[in-house]
Amino acid sequence: MTAQNGHRPFDVGAIRRDFPILKREVASGARLVYLDNAATSQKPVQVIAEITRYYRDHNANIHRGVHTLSMEASELYDGVREKVRAFINAPRESEVVFTRNTTESINLVAYGWGRKFLAAGDEVVISEIEHHSNIVPWQVLRDERGIVLKYIPMLPDGTLDLEYARQVIGPRTKLLAITAMSNALGTIVPLHELIPLAKAHGAVVLVDGAQSVPHMAVDVQALGADFLAFSSHKMLGPTGVGVLWGRQELLAAMDPFMSGGDMILTVTMESATWNEVPYKFEAGTPNIAGVIAFGAAIDYLQSLGMERVRAHELELVDYGLRRLGDVPGVTIYGPPDAADRGGVISFSVEDVHPHDVGQVLDSHGVAVRAGHHCAQPVMAALNVPATVRASFYIYNTPAEIDVLAGAIEEANRYFGVLSA
Ligand SMILES: Cc1ncc(COP(=O)(O)O)c(C=O)c1O
Repeated sequence: MTAQNGHRPFDVGAIRRDFPILKREVASGARLVYLDNAATSQKPVQVIAEITRYYRDHNANIHRGVHTLSMEASELYDGVREKVRAFINAPRESEVVFTRNTTESINLVAYGWGRKFLAAGDEVVISEIEHHSNIVPWQVLRDERGIVLKYIPMLPDGTLDLEYARQVIGPRTKLLAITAMSNALGTIVPLHELIPLAKAHGAVVLVDGAQSVPHMAVDVQALGADFLAFSSHKMLGPTGVGVLWGRQELLAAMDPFMSGGDMILTVTMESATWNEVPYKFEAGTPNIAGVIAFGAAIDYLQSLGMERVRAHELELVDYGLRRLGDVPGVTIYGPPDAADRGGVISFSVEDVHPHDVGQVLDSHGVAVRAGHHCAQPVMAALNVPATVRASFYIYNTPAEIDVLAGAIEEANRYFGVLSA
């Protein structure tokens, strides 16, 4: 498939050759059709090679040694900060904090900022379509500090109730912590409408970018948020690496989350002083190889261009909605218009439990997610125990969506929906 943007074609065939795992046969000889990208993406050879190269040629601890290897490793590691900065158009490299994942990035804000600056009665607004990672840390803070947690509800089509948002975000709102895209339904959240509402009341805004940063151009300055959290492993990079971007003045005012080595300036037997931002938040030896290989993942996405990544996924989701919409017994959840979604299609098959659908799909080589997708409030709002979720990325093709649709039809036959 070819998506045109400017003059360069989006060559999915060439992209696929960079992902050896896509040649794998799974489930009795069926070729892998990987549609579980919202959980984690596959990794191109460029990223895999970078991990090997680091351990083979540069392995040393960072920020600690005057020897050549340590200086090389430090330079490679800190060099990725600049790549991340450019990728999200952050004003300063020092505003990029490396964490383990999105979950840790959000917890860092809850601990380092929330516990210092929020008091009983202060309101934190989240939404009903958040991943558990952007719900539970705020519930813990509520139980500990007496803050008030409010939700923007989901409408039946998987979008947020913006009317309600206008009422719930008010003068007592101190934080809006909101996802840019629902991992369960693919809903793209209109941040350009919500963030100004919070800013009008002087609230801090944290954006959960776990599903947006890998799939579309994100510019933190245009967004107007204060914090952005995302994970390397969902955007071609290794597991164990996440990012918290935060405004310099907020990061500087925050308390550390973890303490120990690397994050200090001085230590006596009585006390310690903190290192400057971002090192204040990077206690202990980090995932050096992972961060360096994450740099290769960013290079890969930059070479494709995030506008073209988004255009490719939009074509896939548009095709997928039409193709799956024609399969008997299939109910699709989330926004009906492809333009309002990322590359995610959540669905159920009449009278067949999502786990059973997932197993039949697996026997055709199709990898999807079946479950609550760490978004149980979404399942509760839809009044379903679970859904099946197909989620796309740069290497997926319409032909793979045909395999998915054919396998669902097979599940239909197997479980007798068509014969009933
Ligand atoms: C929207 C969203 N937020 C947060 C997370 C948590 O990411 P991680 O498991 O990498 O911490 C996910 C993962 O699926 C997600 O989709």
